Amino acid sequence: MYAIEANDLEKTYPKKITLYNFSIRIPAGEIYGLLGPNGAGKSTFIRILAGLERQDSGELKILGEVPGKKIRKTIGVAPQENSFHNLLTCFENLIYYAELYGMKRNESEKRADELLDMLGLGEKKNVQAAWLSGGMKRRLNLACALMHKPKIIILDEPTTGLDPISRIRMWNVVRSIKEKEKATILLTTHYMEEAETLCDQISFVNRGHIVRTGTPEKLKSIIGKEFLRVKSTPGNYQKIIQNIEKIEGVKHVTVANEELLIEAKNAASKIGAITRMLNENNENIIDLRVSQATLEDAFIKLTGAGLKGAKNETTK
Ligand SMILES: Nc1ncnc2c1ncn2[C@@H]1O[C@H](COP(=O)(O)OP(=O)(O)OP(=O)(O)O)[C@@H](O)[C@H]1O
Ligand SMILES: [Mg+2]
Repeated sequence: MYAIEANDLEKTYPKKITLYNFSIRIPAGEIYGLLGPNGAGKSTFIRILAGLERQDSGELKILGEVPGKKIRKTIGVAPQENSFHNLLTCFENLIYYAELYGMKRNESEKRADELLDMLGLGEKKNVQAAWLSGGMKRRLNLACALMHKPKIIILDEPTTGLDPISRIRMWNVVRSIKEKEKATILLTTHYMEEAETLCDQISFVNRGHIVRTGTPEKLKSIIGKEFLRVKSTPGNYQKIIQNIEKIEGVKHVTVANEELLIEAKNAASKIGAITRMLNENNENIIDLRVSQATLEDAFIKLTGAGLKGAKNETTK
């Protein structure tokens, strides 16, 4: 039995197909990532899971059941926008959430203290939420979702907007929740490092659709281990891509984030030929690197689009 199972979900807003053929199987006990750019449909799927919206068609099962009120109590959602009240203290916010879930007062007070300690907010217990730093606010948002001891925890972009140190702290919190709460965690992100460091499995989501699923290693192996990254001005790559692909040993060429990604066997040995070709086409090289494949490179190869930027809106 899967913690979450969706088959062929479809969701359309006026003139916009937001999810289509959206199928996913999330095993219990895993940290599972949905990695995709702005507008890919990640939050839409989460709103459907949380019962805030309904799919137009397709089947959804949570812990093997079609979700009703009882099953939805086993989920805790930390939404993309912080959902606590700024005027309440950290502790009061947690008690407020506990009451929404019908928890008894002595039980909820104990749980609130436990979570504040676990999430590094113990000293801020009686501080109004409005006065917390950005990283603390994200952790409080998460604590609210954990109050009722959910078996499935959903984190919608837990670290967007956080500085690198707060981000790493959040990653440690997520890992410790997996261990201590023995829960399944579904998180969305558009940071490949986040998906790679935290997730047992990842689904690439683009334009309302799951493009590919696998472990981080498996997804990265979609492209060869090595390739060249080249940046030049003026960057008129389209007219030379075909010629670069003809160079012996070059497997695949894509353009993303204003760079040429050239997948090749023994990538370093192709530098001479590629440099010559760019020079002949009046391109001035400003950066050239041999590098290891990343999750974003795999995403680009599969979708032709990067993970950043809001241009990737869903249309069909
Ligand atoms: N209530 C709505 N009415 C109309 N369109 C909507 C609505 N909610 C979402 N959309 C559209 O559906 C698409 C997917 O949005 P969604 O918020 O699920 O993306 P996302 O992957 O979470 O993106 P982000 O990384 O920016 O949070 C977008 O094009 C968005 O504009
Ligand atoms: Mg979103």
